[in-house]
Amino acid sequence: MDKLDRFGAQVSHKDQLDIDVFGEAAELMLGYAPDPVGMINTLLEKSPDFIMARCFLAGIFLTASDKRRQPLMHKHYDILATQAEHANEREKGHIHALKLWSGGNLYAASQAYADILNTCPRDIVALQLGHQTDFLLGHASSTRDRPTRVLGHWSKTDPQYSYILGMQAFGLEEAGHYSAAQSMAERCVGMNEKDTWGVHALAHCLEMQGKVDEGVDFMTRCEDRWGNDTYMSIHNRWHLGLYYLERCEFDTALAMHDAHMAVTPKSELMDMHDSAALLWRLQMDGVDVGDRWNVVADNYACVIDQAYMSFTDLHAMMSFAATGRDKEAKAQIAVLENAATANTDTGTIIQQAGLPLVRGFEAFGRGDYAAAKRHIGNARHNSHLMGGSIAQRDVINWTLIEAAIRDGDTPMANALLAERTLMKPHSPLTDMFARKAA
Ligand SMILES: [Fe+2]
Repeated sequence: MDKLDRFGAQVSHKDQLDIDVFGEAAELMLGYAPDPVGMINTLLEKSPDFIMARCFLAGIFLTASDKRRQPLMHKHYDILATQAEHANEREKGHIHALKLWSGGNLYAASQAYADILNTCPRDIVALQLGHQTDFLLGHASSTRDRPTRVLGHWSKTDPQYSYILGMQAFGLEEAGHYSAAQSMAERCVGMNEKDTWGVHALAHCLEMQGKVDEGVDFMTRCEDRWGNDTYMSIHNRWHLGLYYLERCEFDTALAMHDAHMAVTPKSELMDMHDSAALLWRLQMDGVDVGDRWNVVADNYACVIDQAYMSFTDLHAMMSFAATGRDKEAKAQIAVLENAATANTDTGTIIQQAGLPLVRGFEAFGRGDYAAAKRHIGNARHNSHLMGGSIAQRDVINWTLIEAAIRDGDTPMANALLAERTLMKPHSPLTDMFARKAA
């Protein structure tokens, strides 16, 4: 008879102390706290036959979004393939998801994590990993629905309940159900102050509804709980920076960048995206960001050949365009043109969203605003394919507005500003764009 992990899901491993360590690491992962990877690596050195722990570690690498982590995923998948005959049904589901992702079947892998939950709804690892694949693949409805399907199998007395509410709240927000999302996110944050994903969900709700003052008030009140130098501590401050941009408080946003998002040669890609996204917006708003781009562009130059996540490619192009690195920009477009011909999930995403949007940002950087308008305008409604959140992808709309303004296309600029005003009727930033358009 299989033992249960601390969440109530079966594991084939028999050592209770090992299972407890696995549970502790998985719980840290739920709060995006350090260092579940280190804990599981140590655990696997002691107990290399702990299948579920290895599935968890490989799944973290699967969702890492940086192609440089893929060899680690492959390494652990190869070991799991030799252990599969000893795996239980839950673990076989994880191994299947890893196999699909390894083979480039990204959408099928995401569904494989969902399938595990049909028979094992207490597998919170499958839930979180699947939730992250929804984010990487831009599946808003699945982001909303995946937690919904398991929520009835959890009780508010479960210590992990708030984490599921946080995922649910984020999914509701991404799917546009702002009122329900905000209620759920507030409930989640009230239950567990360690839940940085719940904080993040509420930040998104307030952002999308233009509740900027409320957002600044909420985020600054809980900022001291996020810690420093973790992905969520950086990304939540990026959200705070967005609020300052919306209020045209550019100096404060830039200070927020420098305090928490400044890139170093060792920065992770996801953290670099936050820096690039904020610098790009600030620069479009007329702020001189000095030489801050240089290290960002240096780092992105090392991943030009990935052609893996279009979200990465777009942010890389921001850095090349901002620094006038034509050679890197051309190299990246050539890599994407080649990758777009592949008959794979990634090839389709690059063809339909990544490549045209990267071309648009490259044209913007060269000052060819007519071309930027054409490329971005034609592809922006496919931008969800490249993953990330609506708030993150909003940089595409900002860039199109700015391209229209710089191209002297006032009718297009005004039409795009009408879109912004629908959800954010009282925005100093929109007013600033409108003045420039006029
Ligand atoms: Fe976010």
